[in-house]
Amino acid sequence: MKNDTTTAPTPVGLEWVRGLPKAEVHVHLEGCIPMSVVRKAARDAGQEVPEDDRELFSFTDLASFLEYLDWSCGLITEREQLYEIAYDYGRRNLDTGIRYADVIINPTHWPSWRHRLDDLVDALHAGFSDGEADGHVPVGLCLSVKRNQTSSEAIELVEWIVSREHPRVVALSIDGNEAAVGRTGARFADAFRMAADKGVHRCVHAGESSGPEGIRDALDYLLAERIDHGVRAVEDPSLVTELADRRVFLDVCPTSNVLLGIAPSLAAHPVEPLRQAGVPLSLNTDDPLLFGTDVAREYCTCAQQFGWGRDTVASIARTSIEACFANDDLRATLLRDLQDYLARTA
Ligand code: ADE
Ligand code: ZN
Repeated sequence: MKNDTTTAPTPVGLEWVRGLPKAEVHVHLEGCIPMSVVRKAARDAGQEVPEDDRELFSFTDLASFLEYLDWSCGLITEREQLYEIAYDYGRRNLDTGIRYADVIINPTHWPSWRHRLDDLVDALHAGFSDGEADGHVPVGLCLSVKRNQTSSEAIELVEWIVSREHPRVVALSIDGNEAAVGRTGARFADAFRMAADKGVHRCVHAGESSGPEGIRDALDYLLAERIDHGVRAVEDPSLVTELADRRVFLDVCPTSNVLLGIAPSLAAHPVEPLRQAGVPLSLNTDDPLLFGTDVAREYCTCAQQFGWGRDTVASIARTSIEACFANDDLRATLLRDLQDYLARTA
């Protein structure tokens, strides 16, 4: 394989990226509802919806974006709708090269299912399982606390995860708007400690609507294995060094950050300085159907913007597999498949 630093990098084409085995580790089911499902549900509920998706997607920041999620997920009342959303996620990713995905769901966005977590997870499990039987990617579910919830609500969720031992659920997550609620690491420390003690994986949104202090709290209070976003670490050089030295994974979503105003442009996105500083990071979509993207496109757009060659792109794919919450056998298989693919396409 050629070395990016000594020879002109081999061009990174979409076809090659699509074949590259990789994992998606930061994607919200709330951002994966097909517009056909949303529109039909809105019609059934007697709601008028603008014809043009662009008018519907009028969010400009995280706060308005989260309000949109509350509205769209609030329309989902039937088991069949959940099944379709889960099945469709795998189908849409058939040609992106994703070989495993950790999918986040935050029950607070889905009011019809709020006190029916078993039903919610079982319906999604059925959709993902049928998808897998049809050759779609295997999916692990990360159940998410919202930043404005209470400590006891978070503990209740962990107790459900631990007692239910659902085969589809792999992790505890936390998301929402930190800018609106301030520092909440201490509030959720008990829940995340309980998850860690019981062997439940942990991924934490931080360094998106919070600065470096949010990432600090994610590590110290929430025992995060992965930071969802984490890009604002770039504001604190000593934190960047620590993330690189400790090999803390950042689950980066460039298009999301540009569209929600976290980064002024892709050119000015912190992904490149963070990568150059040695922070292990993956590329992801966050909410693909709302941001009009998929994982292969995220890889290609960044490669083009930052002049990455195949070595760099392959090392990001490798990190995504190392970071994912798949079981050890599947992870080993994917790492081997990645090596084989690189050898085959060298
Ligand atoms: N939920 C869905 N997308 C999110 C994001 N980018 N940040 C926080 N919570 C979210
Ligand atoms: Zn996210």
